Amino acid sequence: MRIDILTLFPDMFTGFLEGSLLGAAREKGLVEIRLVDIRDFAEGPHRQVDDRPFGGGPGMLLMPGPVVSSIEHVQGEAQQAGHVILFTPGGRRLDQALVEELAGRERLVLVCGRYEGFDARVAETVGAEEISIGDYVLSGGEVAAMVVVDAVARLLPGVLGHEESARQDSFSGRDRLVEGPQYTRPREFRGLHVPEVLLSGDHRRIEAWRHEQAVAATRRRATATPTPGMSRRSDP
Ligand code: ADE
Repeated sequence: MRIDILTLFPDMFTGFLEGSLLGAAREKGLVEIRLVDIRDFAEGPHRQVDDRPFGGGPGMLLMPGPVVSSIEHVQGEAQQAGHVILFTPGGRRLDQALVEELAGRERLVLVCGRYEGFDARVAETVGAEEISIGDYVLSGGEVAAMVVVDAVARLLPGVLGHEESARQDSFSGRDRLVEGPQYTRPREFRGLHVPEVLLSGDHRRIEAWRHEQAVAATRRRATATPTPGMSRRSDP
């Protein structure tokens, strides 16, 4: 898979891309990731990339010109056009099903917004999909792009080294269950014991127990209310 990341802050990605899982995947040639500085496509002596919104309102918007030019530049670099994603809080909410969908594509072009976001004509011009990583506002799309790259890369064949583990992840498989509790050594920690079934060696019982725990954890999560004492800022 090839992923182009278009951003005004390419330096934010350096440590991330060299990290253990992604660094190894890139070295093995399983994923090719390129960083493009949107400012390189800005015009004029000041290389301006943002401007005030028409109609008034707070903050600045990314100008469509540099964003669209940078997308067209990377699209022109390969025969096959990439699937273009704009990160914005109002986009389609990212979940594991969408991650799996993206992992099935040959090429992704991830475009990171800044300021108050993109001029609406960007999505229209390039036919982009808008994606949000959750109902909160980030100061830019860079962290969202890292979330997508991380979640997608670990699904690519050969990246994890143990394919079964991605298939058993939370939210994977037909039921989209979250994983139940897991344990490693020691068998007893501060008076807490590993459930006996996991030490039994009886794989059918273990499988049944894990499924039961996953169903219970998924149900608890669906009905979860905020933890008592964790007041929100708007609470009196
Ligand atoms: N940019 C700002 N907030 C965002 C969010 N929640 N998801 C994706 N991109 C964003």
